[in-house]
Amino acid sequence: MGKIGLIYGSDTGMTEEVVGSIVDSWTASEIEVIEAHNVSKSDFERFDKLILGLSTWYDGDLQSDWEDYYDREFQEIDFTGKTVAIFGLGDQYGYGEYFVDGIGILAQVVLKNGGKLIGKWSNKEYDFESSKAQVEGEDDFFYGLALDEDNEPDKTPERLEKWLEQIKNEFGF
Ligand SMILES: Cc1cc2nc3c(=O)[nH]c(=O)nc-3n(C[C@H](O)[C@H](O)[C@H](O)COP(=O)(O)O)c2cc1C
Repeated sequence: MGKIGLIYGSDTGMTEEVVGSIVDSWTASEIEVIEAHNVSKSDFERFDKLILGLSTWYDGDLQSDWEDYYDREFQEIDFTGKTVAIFGLGDQYGYGEYFVDGIGILAQVVLKNGGKLIGKWSNKEYDFESSKAQVEGEDDFFYGLALDEDNEPDKTPERLEKWLEQIKNEFGF
């Protein structure tokens, strides 16, 4: 079983904290963490299983490192044969029109470039107006796990635990 590559970007450290919890649930031989500002095409080529983590900023923009990488190279990554899970942080009350948009922006590229997305997550427990993370044609689901550390930090451990169990299954662990 190949390692999982976990690629993440975080502006104020909230996503980074979640990455710490995710890493704790795997052994060191099962997962490798790379920050989005250091990532390159060859990193994507090394992994068949990927977890992408990011926050959303400034009315629906990608976290800054992801935004740079998106413009530079991300849209050219070939995801054929790769299984990808995405999680995103956002603020459903402060930015309810753009809640966790970053999940959807990355998900669209993964799907367009041949990847398989796992880790879809019900959006019913969130209070938001609109989101690019919503699965096209399946209104009740996000393309990945949404976490709101600004308003619901108490719900994060349980959401994360459930989602990790789900993706472990879907990855085939
Ligand atoms: C100026 C500003 C803009 C933001 N814009 C959005 C947004 O458009 N959508 C959203 O869901 N969250 C938005 N957020 C919330 C952040 O995504 C959230 O605080 C997140 O936990 C930050 O994670 P990080 O520290 O890993 O970057 C914004 C926060 C700030 C301060």
